[in-house]
Amino acid sequence: MLSNQIGITQISLMRFSPLIVVLLGVVLARAPGYPEAPPVAHTGGFGEPTCQQCHFDLPLNDPGGALTLDGVPDDYAAGARYLLTAQLIRPEMRRSGFQVSARFADGARAGQQAGLLQPVNDHVDVVLDDASAIQYAHHTKPGTHLAAPDTARWTLAWTAPEAAGRIVFHLTANAANDDASEFGDYVYSGTWFSSKATRGE
Ligand code: HEC
Repeated sequence: MLSNQIGITQISLMRFSPLIVVLLGVVLARAPGYPEAPPVAHTGGFGEPTCQQCHFDLPLNDPGGALTLDGVPDDYAAGARYLLTAQLIRPEMRRSGFQVSARFADGARAGQQAGLLQPVNDHVDVVLDDASAIQYAHHTKPGTHLAAPDTARWTLAWTAPEAAGRIVFHLTANAANDDASEFGDYVYSGTWFSSKATRGE
């Protein structure tokens, strides 16, 4: 009797397994490519989650690592082009990725795209989120390889807007262990500012 029941279970599994395989294929094909590109809107800014939404098993901003964004001018010149370098250092990391945005921090334009982000090599890509009109720069698959031991580095260009204001860069990066999963990865997140006073201020 028991063996008969197991037999029925096996048969039903066999009948359904091709369907499951097909469904899984559809799900995988529709999912954003990991780790080729993180999903948009995961910078930690303006209410967005960070990469921790999925890479969640370790604490945010663990003191064992350091995230920096170099090249952000304290005072920007309208329309000037700056090279920004995001860097994450963490001992024993094997792979890494990042996402950064540039938005007006406050005032009437708060949360709106500020200037233009552009890749300067194939380690970085920039996508425009149509829904929000915000650009997100992020690693590409080649960009997940470390620049030096324990060090990930990505360079991109930012052209400042014509408008005056205070701009916030939200940068989030993860120090991954290269196990092709979202676990065991340390996520870091931070903010950097650049300003241009309105005339008369
Ligand atoms: C919606 C879920 C999700 C979010 C959000 C997410 N990831 Fe991932 N990520 C995954 C999954 C799942 C994998 C493992 C799949 C794989 O490696 O093929 C992964 C793998 C990676 C890897 C390779 C890890 C390793 O150890 O091999 C990197 C690097 C990475 N993600 C970077 C990021 C960064 C940077 C962000 C945030 C800007 C981010 N991810 C946000 C789901 C996510």
